[in-house]
Amino acid sequence: MKTIDELEVAGRRVFVRADLNVPLEGDTITDDGRIRAVAPTIARLADAGARVVVASHLGRPKGAPDPQFSLAPVAKRLGEILGKPVVFAADTVGDSAKATVAALGDGEVTLLENLRFNAGETSKDDAERGAFADELAALADLYVGDGFGAVHRKHASVYDLPARLPHAVGGLISTEVGVLKKLTENVERPYVVVLGGAKVSDKLGVIDHLLEKADRILVGGGMAYTFLKAKGHEVGVSLLQEDQIPACLDYLARAEKRGVEFVLPVDVLVSAEFPDLKTKAPANPDLVSSDAIPADEEGLDIGPKTRELYASKLADAATVFWNGPMGVFEHPDYANGTKAVAQALVDSPAFTVVGGGDSAAAVRLLGFDETAFGHISTGGGASLEYLEGKTLPGLAALED
Ligand code: 3PG
Repeated sequence: MKTIDELEVAGRRVFVRADLNVPLEGDTITDDGRIRAVAPTIARLADAGARVVVASHLGRPKGAPDPQFSLAPVAKRLGEILGKPVVFAADTVGDSAKATVAALGDGEVTLLENLRFNAGETSKDDAERGAFADELAALADLYVGDGFGAVHRKHASVYDLPARLPHAVGGLISTEVGVLKKLTENVERPYVVVLGGAKVSDKLGVIDHLLEKADRILVGGGMAYTFLKAKGHEVGVSLLQEDQIPACLDYLARAEKRGVEFVLPVDVLVSAEFPDLKTKAPANPDLVSSDAIPADEEGLDIGPKTRELYASKLADAATVFWNGPMGVFEHPDYANGTKAVAQALVDSPAFTVVGGGDSAAAVRLLGFDETAFGHISTGGGASLEYLEGKTLPGLAALED
């Protein structure tokens, strides 16, 4: 892969595919980690005299403009971080984008509107995606891939566009891949993995892979309840993926056979009601043993004994990978499990990697100092698929 230093960028239009898919509440960006992570690449190109055309998706609009997914607030924040104006184009390949790009001077930056406002971006049809990639290619002379969070998507701007322009890899992707390589090649042991989040099915591939690599796997979050059910416990109305029970049983059996410690919650906070994440009104959960969840209640966080147990299982780790919150961390009554895992990582001398998405946002929203972690990835699904050993379309496309 070429790096951006190997491109002649001065005076040329450089398309930067970033992942600026940040959480928004209305127009307010609640976590700008992904914008800050790619800003150095954009600044470097602009400083070298490039005319920088930044593009990204945000959320999952249905292939047509939808104001709630506009990148306009992101353009503003990107401008603040770069310390220079970022001109916002009100469409992707239409009149606004064309005029904005044509008016760009050397060292100036524009951000196009959400790429997913065009159906060609995510289409499964090669020709439809290709046609959109052709239109995007007309806006630039060079391509820089730096949207790590989206490299697992075979989308027009990620996969098809680099084939149409001289291309290079940006600094963010280089860093992310360098870190994840450390977790796959000659990892330092004990290697402890913490997995959370809502669905077991999102983590199947990675668990499969980690059973061959990790020494210990700690499970929390919504996905834990399917494992608890597989072990014969009743889980009330907790998140449950019945169809994944056979897979969970298989993982538990394989873990035992391979000597991988597979650790599940021993106690959980439960309630008959899902908390109000807007008002954050007190939820008053009950604390129960994980084999005694009442029939009409759901598990919403790991309990204090589990917090202690997980901290002890992390204490002697040499390498830690963590993906997925332990509970509904957005509500203060259910944030302690996620906080405890984050704190155990902060306290640990291990090389610690927080794998993107919700867990990365959680550590920042809960007030942890980012520099206390070895690496906070900007890619949730992307980092999981990398660890699974899959070929990622957006990385393959950046090969020479
Ligand atoms: C993410 O948030 O994981 C990336 O931005 C990819 O988003 P997607 O899952 O909607 O493709």
